[in-house]
Amino acid sequence: MRGDYTRSGPDFVIEQDWTAYTAEEHALYRRLFERQSKLVPRHACPEWIEAIAGLDCAGGIPDFRDISAKLRKQTGWELVAVPGLIPDEAFFTHLAQRRFPVTVWLRRPEEFDYIAEPDVFHDFFGHVPLLFDGIYADHLHEYGKGGLKAMRLNAVTFLARLYWYTIEFGLVRTKAGVRAYGAGLLSSGGELAYCVEDPRPQRLAFNLERIMRTAYQIDRYQERYFVIDSFEQLLRETAPDFTPIYARVRSIPMEVA
Ligand code: PHE
Ligand code: FE
Repeated sequence: MRGDYTRSGPDFVIEQDWTAYTAEEHALYRRLFERQSKLVPRHACPEWIEAIAGLDCAGGIPDFRDISAKLRKQTGWELVAVPGLIPDEAFFTHLAQRRFPVTVWLRRPEEFDYIAEPDVFHDFFGHVPLLFDGIYADHLHEYGKGGLKAMRLNAVTFLARLYWYTIEFGLVRTKAGVRAYGAGLLSSGGELAYCVEDPRPQRLAFNLERIMRTAYQIDRYQERYFVIDSFEQLLRETAPDFTPIYARVRSIPMEVA
């Protein structure tokens, strides 16, 4: 895994050290931001578009402390800086306490179009704006608690698929058509237009058990997306106790990805 893990404790939280970013890094972030900004008006969901406008974060890599101050006021979430991907238990524990872990490092210029691991641009641009939406914020909090429970039930694989097909690659139906709310889509130069406009991928109605039975691929555009009607639907349909659902999903053969 990329990133410096030597300075982090058991919760993996580190200092962002905002002053250490170079002018080149801020400029690269700005270029990423500008490219995505051209795509979002037609492809991102309205909640995301509304939230990013209030963040004043186009000029360079944001200082997480400033964003956290705004976020705390609006939905009671805050950002914590982390070296990169962190283990499930630490990740779920942060979410369960309304803390969103954001990677501190930025990709290199030659990785402009694609990186295998989340960097600060993906984490910030993709994930953070929707934390300003009250319903989405509550859902992610529930997801964190559900993650700790899934660990006890040996069901993290199933819950991770839910995260993948919603928080990372989810689509939502709006009056203007299908739009992206998944962070992996919002931060992608190619897949953001593809997921909304390309005739090839399947766009299936949100179905919790089907999602849990559908494996995913991390190294190509998705062949299927799941479309929610609203964040209310997501909150409501993930509220029931998953214990019997995990048992059922385990007993039914898996979809082929
Ligand atoms: N309802 C889930 C459970 O009982 C928890 C959860 C909520 C999981 C929201 C994901 C999203 O395990
Ligand atoms: Fe992500």
